[in-house]
Amino acid sequence: MNDSLIRACRLERPERRPVWFMRQAGRYLKEYREIRKNYSVLELCRRPEEAAEISALPVNRFDLDAAIVFSDIMIPLTGMNADIRIIENEGPKVAGRIENAEDVQRLREFDPSTVQYVYEAVERTRRMLSDRVPVIGFAGGPFTLSSYLIEGSSSRDFMRVKKFMYRKRELWDELMGKLADMCISHLQEQHRAGCRVLQLFDSWAGTLSAADYMEYVRPYTEHITRRLSADGAIVIHFITGNPSLVSCMACRGVSAVSVDWRVNIRDVMDALPDLAVQGNLEPALMMAPKQMMLERASRILAETEGRPGHIFNLGHGMPAEADVENVEALVKLVHGEMR
Ligand code: CP3
Repeated sequence: MNDSLIRACRLERPERRPVWFMRQAGRYLKEYREIRKNYSVLELCRRPEEAAEISALPVNRFDLDAAIVFSDIMIPLTGMNADIRIIENEGPKVAGRIENAEDVQRLREFDPSTVQYVYEAVERTRRMLSDRVPVIGFAGGPFTLSSYLIEGSSSRDFMRVKKFMYRKRELWDELMGKLADMCISHLQEQHRAGCRVLQLFDSWAGTLSAADYMEYVRPYTEHITRRLSADGAIVIHFITGNPSLVSCMACRGVSAVSVDWRVNIRDVMDALPDLAVQGNLEPALMMAPKQMMLERASRILAETEGRPGHIFNLGHGMPAEADVENVEALVKLVHGEMR
């Protein structure tokens, strides 16, 4: 097994610098688009054979240091009785968004057997890759999930979820408690299926101030990360959009923080000497001229040189318009194979 990712997460010296990309299995790959023609995203997530094939695609093509299970953060919510669709170029839609106590009560306790196909996809992906690289398991963070449930869709200003959080504190705590329990059991099942590394995607929590994050979200996140690390799992914590949350991401149980392009990655490493740091190339550079992209990636490599525990990634997901040649060149650069 290529254990570069695991060694980096433990601040040990890996054989080579690990690199993988959030949303590495997606629309920028024509092989993905080909399979996707016949199914919706959610249908694909429910088909372990196709899901495993999709996860393995970018790993084989670019020699990446990790696979990520093909699923979506909305999938486990379907196992809690939520009615979810995903609209292309828009994102998730929730029918009957959460507004009151009855809506929160309607959300059933998560039963992992309702999404058994995710854990089967993990096992199939491991087999398909002969355990050559780790398979990362994941879940959405409790703020990001509650924002989809309360807003009903993607949001720009998150007014509904913030109003709910401020005005209905008890209900907020009940909802966050249910979501945190779901995250724990969904991630534990992926860990059991063989994901040694787990990433918590709290993508939209950066809309909160540090004070509100600490008050309304972090206790739940820390509950999740402590439980998982007690099981021996390695946890990566990801939030975008808010440099002042970087140190708040370092809760107990977290091995690595994943940061976006708005922060200087060396500053993050200096501020968090006991943690691995993942990131943080601007995703739009995947559509920039190759030399420009390589030059900017080289700066990140130089800034993090000599410090163990850097996991190369983008600051957010791989864009659908990413240039495949850029992806190829970037991985070679990180691996020191650029001529
Ligand atoms: O390759 C991978 O990283 C694994 C699979 C993965 C998907 N979603 C599949 C998917 C992962 C890790 C996710 C996480 C996810 N889903 C997040 C957190 C990460 C982030 O980007 O912040 C969020 C917020 C979602 C919700 C979601 N699902 C969005 C916003 C979208 C995009 C809608 C669009 O069309 O632009 C989805 C759909 C989705 N999930 C796609 C994929 C590959 C889009 C591809 C398609 O339409 O075929």
